Amino acid sequence: MNLTTTYLGLTLNNPLVASAGPLSRTVDGVRHLADAGVGAVVLPSLFEEQVQREAERDARLAETGAESFAESLSYLPGTVDGEAGPRRYLDLLSRAAAVAGVPVIASLNGVTAGGWTDYAAAMQDAGAAAIELNVYYLPPDPRMPGRDVEQRYVDVLTTVTAAVSIPVAVKLAPFFSSAGEVAIRLDRAGADGLVLFNRFMQADIDPETLTVSTGLKLSSPAEAALPRSWIARLRGLVGASLAASTGVETAGDVAAYLLAGADVVMTTSSLLRHGPSHAAVLIDELTEWLKRKGFSGVDDMRGLLAVPAGAHGSAFERAGYLTAIEEATRTYGPH
Ligand SMILES: Cc1cc2nc3c(=O)[nH]c(=O)nc-3n(C[C@H](O)[C@H](O)[C@H](O)COP(=O)(O)O)c2cc1C
Repeated sequence: MNLTTTYLGLTLNNPLVASAGPLSRTVDGVRHLADAGVGAVVLPSLFEEQVQREAERDARLAETGAESFAESLSYLPGTVDGEAGPRRYLDLLSRAAAVAGVPVIASLNGVTAGGWTDYAAAMQDAGAAAIELNVYYLPPDPRMPGRDVEQRYVDVLTTVTAAVSIPVAVKLAPFFSSAGEVAIRLDRAGADGLVLFNRFMQADIDPETLTVSTGLKLSSPAEAALPRSWIARLRGLVGASLAASTGVETAGDVAAYLLAGADVVMTTSSLLRHGPSHAAVLIDELTEWLKRKGFSGVDDMRGLLAVPAGAHGSAFERAGYLTAIEEATRTYGPH
């Protein structure tokens, strides 16, 4: 069965990718994921704030006249306030890229087009096969127009693409008034890939214990409907690779994303729930599914249910919504 997939111009053994998360925080973690057969691994994000903190600390050290600045850096602990610092990140990246045997994608999380994007070049030098930009901007001023918020995403993308020659993908949240148009703008601004969507931990309230919880909840397959419908609608409209992220638990979820037009399908929650070896189960079951449906490979079926370019995808639009309401009324409404 031919599972070979192209993502961001990279050739992958199969379309299953381990998305950014705790399992790829160590070289061993990356190796386990690669051994389980994923087509590529995305490292957890390096945050703009981490890069800035390190730069400030370096500047302080330089000011206080450490005798030999370069030498003094080697004495520094690899963490600032217990977090993995940028130097440690680059070390993880270069070691993981050397042993993984599959592409290792670095992830940068930032919201300004500032100097931290220099780290993109350092990631490239450390062996990143590509960079995923995880941009999540919460406007400090609630009056900030949506267009200005969107421009941030474009500015971060163009700053990073100018700094590197490896492919750059943007991981988006769905919270735009026209998420499709933002995706198309980023495609035109040079994104090699779009990852739909990021999923945020949201603090929640427990009415029994009267406490606020951290909101760490793994995803469920029902959450895949939103990214899947956007992928189906965007497939014919963008040249960028499309990566699905959110809600994969079974091979059926992977297949559905591929039918919608995803080039690769990412998963974190399922691998956290069942362990990295679940990747092998998903790949085996996807292969079985392809056989059962009479496909000779993923290219045979990818995008089969995407909205064709120039067409309206009524099942994904208002008409589909109305049909769903009618169906719900027939099923659950008073008879
Ligand atoms: C514990 C945890 C840590 C994560 N860390 C990152 C991260 O550092 N960068 C990032 O872009 N996404 C991160 N994510 C988001 C995942 O990459 C993924 O987009 C999201 O969990 C939805 O996919 P899923 O349904 O397969 O979990 C994290 C998710 C979890 C659960």
